[in-house]
Amino acid sequence: MKKVDVDALFIGPKSENRDYFKGMLNFLVDEHLFWRRDFHPNDQEYIKIRERYSEDFMLTQERMTETLHELSSRLKESSMPWASPRYLGHMNSDTLAVANLAYLTTILYNPNNVAYEASPVTTALEIEAGKQLAEMLGYDPGKSWGHITCDGTVANYEALWLARNVKTIPLAIKEVKPELVNGKSEWELLNTPVSECLDMLDILKKEGLFEAIKDRSVRVKGIDLKKCGKFLVPQSRHYSWVKAADIFGIGQENMVPIQVDEHFRMDLEHLKKVIDGFIAEKIPIMGIVAVVGTTEERAIDHVDTIAEMLEEYERKGVSC
Ligand SMILES: Cc1ncc(COP(=O)(O)O)c(C=O)c1O
Repeated sequence: MKKVDVDALFIGPKSENRDYFKGMLNFLVDEHLFWRRDFHPNDQEYIKIRERYSEDFMLTQERMTETLHELSSRLKESSMPWASPRYLGHMNSDTLAVANLAYLTTILYNPNNVAYEASPVTTALEIEAGKQLAEMLGYDPGKSWGHITCDGTVANYEALWLARNVKTIPLAIKEVKPELVNGKSEWELLNTPVSECLDMLDILKKEGLFEAIKDRSVRVKGIDLKKCGKFLVPQSRHYSWVKAADIFGIGQENMVPIQVDEHFRMDLEHLKKVIDGFIAEKIPIMGIVAVVGTTEERAIDHVDTIAEMLEEYERKGVSC
């Protein structure tokens, strides 16, 4: 395996790698400027030289310069020195130089990943990155996909949003195509394994019934907490989960805290007790969160054991 020198990956606490960073940034900005210029090379320039020397033009640029100078001086005045080895006060640290360069370059192209035609390059990269992550985590990249979010909070929101929506999909299927879930009780429907839900959705998509399912789902009908049930999080969860419960209408009392052990890892015995308690009362479980690196303690939950535990529940007809 090729060796990596970590010191080459950052700008450096004393900007030691500034020449590389500036040279690369210059190259990438030039690439973008040439790309603009060379798009339909026979088109005339829109901003004429005469305009560039006009008073209003120069005053406008002056105001931009002043604003940028002010921003820079305010940023330098009291920003946190994440890059310095003297700084250990917060969970943030320096960011990779390649990430900074990639960010600054991509922003010039302003892709919009919400629609493929507005982002043919970055959407393809997003799909590629999703598959790489899936593979890294042991999923089949041929069957998996991922979605890049702007941060951890939104990633957690998406997870809860999906868990909430998937939970009640079988109920929507029962309304739209009952023969697909024939003979199943409501409890069985609410405990359909996620993979089975997705397989059924694939069938319904092929039959042109996907929109009809969406129309009967929680997205249109609103949330019914008796059906969506509880969401289990370790006591060590990040506060974004609490906000998520609020935003998606779950309600904080339906987000059930699971105790942590002396190493701040989710206590598996307590988890099992809580799951069994809800099963006994026939209260469905929408999802369970395990944390890989808690915010305050850097604790890593026993994800493998939790996954095995949930597979065991699934074999007994309970999908969490
Ligand atoms: C474990 C965990 N989850 C989620 C988040 C939220 O991430 P972000 O601040 O990127 O929204 C954090 C942030 O510290 C975190 O530590």
